[in-house]
Amino acid sequence: MPIIFIKNEKQTEKLGMELAARLLPGTVVALTGEPGAGKTTFTKAVAKGLGVASLVTSPTFTIINEHKDGRIPLYHFDVYRINDEEEMYELGFEEYFYGDGVCVVEWADRIEGLIPERAIRIHISYGIGENERTFQINENTGDRDNGS
Ligand SMILES: Nc1ncnc2c1ncn2[C@@H]1O[C@H](COP(=O)(O)OP(=O)(O)OP(=O)(O)O)[C@@H](O)[C@H]1O
Ligand SMILES: [Mg+2]
Repeated sequence: MPIIFIKNEKQTEKLGMELAARLLPGTVVALTGEPGAGKTTFTKAVAKGLGVASLVTSPTFTIINEHKDGRIPLYHFDVYRINDEEEMYELGFEEYFYGDGVCVVEWADRIEGLIPERAIRIHISYGIGENERTFQINENTGDRDNGS
């Protein structure tokens, strides 16, 4: 699990854009971290990297914002206000998680049971300095290598 030490917001933006360049349709990016850690900031950078021009704002009240103007459709979830997994079924989350877009999910730990095994998990923590963060990135890419 790589750990990336970030010194400022600009580096967070660079990391988000680098991830975006490598994202394939059908990827779920599960973001966790305390309030203000930088989940939305990072998502904005991913959107920018995907070529999304529409405004990316936190979908805290709407749960999901769709951005279809980039290289791959981006579905931005903020599940902070989801109280149980049933609400996610009502939203039709499976169409998104198992579709052809990229899903970025803020507060993914709130719906842990619904996050696909293959998701890229990113936990953002505060550092010592005000603008410092650590990104712990866990990509489950090993499945295909099994049994051959
Ligand atoms: N290195 C950094 N990376 C990301 N954000 C940073 C960094 N340094 C400072 N910040 C600031 O921290 C704040 C991050 O807010 P942001 O809304 O992205 O957090 P969040 O994790 O989405 O919070 P919430 O849980 O409320 O949704 C912003 O005000 C941003 O300017
Ligand atoms: Mg946020």
